[in-house]
Amino acid sequence: MSLHWRSPLIFAHRGASAQAPENTLSAFELAVQSGADVIELDAKLSADEHVVIIHDQTVDRTTDGTGNVSNLPLAALQELNASINFPEFSNKEHIPTLEEVIESLRGKTLIDIELSNYKSPFDALPAKVAQIILHFGIHEHVLVSSFHPIPLIKFHQLLPSIPIGFLAKRGFQGSLSRSKLGRLIIPHQALHPEKSDISPNLVLASHRSGLRVHTYTVNEPDEIMRLFKLGVDGIITDNPLLTRRILESFTELES
Ligand code: G3P
Ligand code: CA
Repeated sequence: MSLHWRSPLIFAHRGASAQAPENTLSAFELAVQSGADVIELDAKLSADEHVVIIHDQTVDRTTDGTGNVSNLPLAALQELNASINFPEFSNKEHIPTLEEVIESLRGKTLIDIELSNYKSPFDALPAKVAQIILHFGIHEHVLVSSFHPIPLIKFHQLLPSIPIGFLAKRGFQGSLSRSKLGRLIIPHQALHPEKSDISPNLVLASHRSGLRVHTYTVNEPDEIMRLFKLGVDGIITDNPLLTRRILESFTELES
C-alpha cells in the first residue's frame, strides 16, 4: 500500500513550536493558521494509561513540574503549566491528551502521531492510539511514526490501513532504518530521515520502493530550499509559516 498524499507537505514539529509552547493546543492551532499540512506530536502513556502529548520522558524541561511522565497520573500531569518556556502564554497551556488534540484539530489538518514510548516499547500505547483513531474515525487523516520498530509493528497489526512513518536517527545509528533491510522488516509507507542524511540517491531509492520521504527537523531557509529542490515529500519544521513562504517562493521560481 502506498500513501497518496500530495507532495511536498509541511509538518509542524510539535506544532508551531518556534512560536508557541511545544505539543500544546496553542502550538497546534497556530500551526494550522500558519499553513501547516500536518501536525506532528509526541504520544506516550501517563501512569494511568491515558495517551498524553509531551516530547520528553520527564515533565522537567517543558513544565513547572518534575518527574517521569510514566509515573504521573493524567490529573497530576494536567495541573502543570506547559508554557513555562513562553512567558506570553503564562499558565494558559496544559499537557493535552490525544483525544483533546483530535477534538480541536479534526477536519482541519492531517496528524502525525509519533509513538514515543521509547523507554517502554512493549506498553499499551499502540493499542490505546489505535482505539482513539477508531473512536474518532480519522483513518484518512493520520499517520503513525516512531524510531522504534516494536510499537510500529504492534500498531500495524492492530490497524494495518493506517500509514506508517519510520523515523531514522542521524548517520550510522539510522542506517538500518534507511536500508533495504529496514524496508523489508518494518511495514511503512514513509521514511522519516534526519535532514543531513537526505541525498538525491536516498530520495530516488525511497521513491523507487514506493516510500515517501519526510525529513526532520528543518528550520534554516537554505536547508528548507535545498530539501524542496531534492524532491522530498515533506519537511518537518518548528516554523511552518517560514516553510510555507519558502515553498511558495520556490513554486513561483519553478513555474
Ligand atoms: O518527527 C520527527 C521528529 O519529531 C523526531 O524527533 O525527538 O523531535 O521527536 P523528536
Ligand atoms: Ca516527535
